[in-house]
Amino acid sequence: MTGAVVPAVTARVVVTGRIPQAGVDLLVGAGHHVDVWTDDTPIPRDELLRRVAGAHAVVSLLTARIDDELLDAAGPQLRAVANVAVGYDNIDVAACHRRGVVATNTPGVLTDATADLAMALVLMTTRRLAEGERLIRSGEPWRWGMFMMLGTGLQGARLGVVGMGQIGTALARRARAFGMTVAYANRRPVDPAVASELGAVRLPLDELLATSDVVSLHCPATPETHHLIGAAQLASMRPTAFLVNTARGTVVDEAALVDALERGEIAGAGLDVFEHEPAVHPGLLGRDDVVLLPHLGSATVETRTAMATLAARNALAVLAGADPLTPIGVVRPTG
Ligand code: GLV
Repeated sequence: MTGAVVPAVTARVVVTGRIPQAGVDLLVGAGHHVDVWTDDTPIPRDELLRRVAGAHAVVSLLTARIDDELLDAAGPQLRAVANVAVGYDNIDVAACHRRGVVATNTPGVLTDATADLAMALVLMTTRRLAEGERLIRSGEPWRWGMFMMLGTGLQGARLGVVGMGQIGTALARRARAFGMTVAYANRRPVDPAVASELGAVRLPLDELLATSDVVSLHCPATPETHHLIGAAQLASMRPTAFLVNTARGTVVDEAALVDALERGEIAGAGLDVFEHEPAVHPGLLGRDDVVLLPHLGSATVETRTAMATLAARNALAVLAGADPLTPIGVVRPTG
């Protein structure tokens, strides 16, 4: 790390969007000047570049791109970029490190909320819940029927987790409670105690895709995972299988997913994230075999508050010359 420690009282902290007040209170309580973009729409790029000039810390939402341009606009006094998210594909971490800027994220505090949402998508897709809800709301006449909207049971079905970090593991625990078996693909084997608790087998990705009934993605968005799930991978899945994505949209080739659904190569998909977020591929919108959510993985009051306070604590630690609680170092599985 380079640069002098900034006395707490003089620090200027830019927050790129609204965060729970507890996070702002921590920053203000430490005596900093805090500048929060309070509109509900993302801060325009020009405005962001203007505001960060002279900042000592930036508390960033995942919608703010932190790159060379922004770091240059901020200036050499910048010490910390504290992302209010576990994923940090919006941050050029190498560019931060080149300037001695510490980058942090918020792992751990959103594990349960995101795993809950992934499990919800598993249930929604396999049991056709959104489709059923749409039917009721449509006002179309309906009556109970023996063969109406039959779904797929989870008991004995295999969950394939791609990226067995904290969130993938937390989903696997939930899936076990629903009677599923667990396989995972990860660069490293998980702790043997966790593998044994979950009865989880580690498989190469191609084998996992070919043998799972539900594939759930929990890997970070990196150049290596861009379109990790493309046409060939989708074609290798079971025609009865479902894909769930609560990680990042770029991990899936969305156009290939539309084609695969159209050809019946997989049975359905549950997506909380999109390749060109907030845009959604038009080919997904009219399909009954997909469930589409607006990036709600960590969206609970408790979790967002914990994320905001962790990000604030990270920024405060760096500004005080101490080690941050959750620095981003090498790329690791999301969660
Ligand atoms: C949300 O998507 C996060 O990365 O925290």
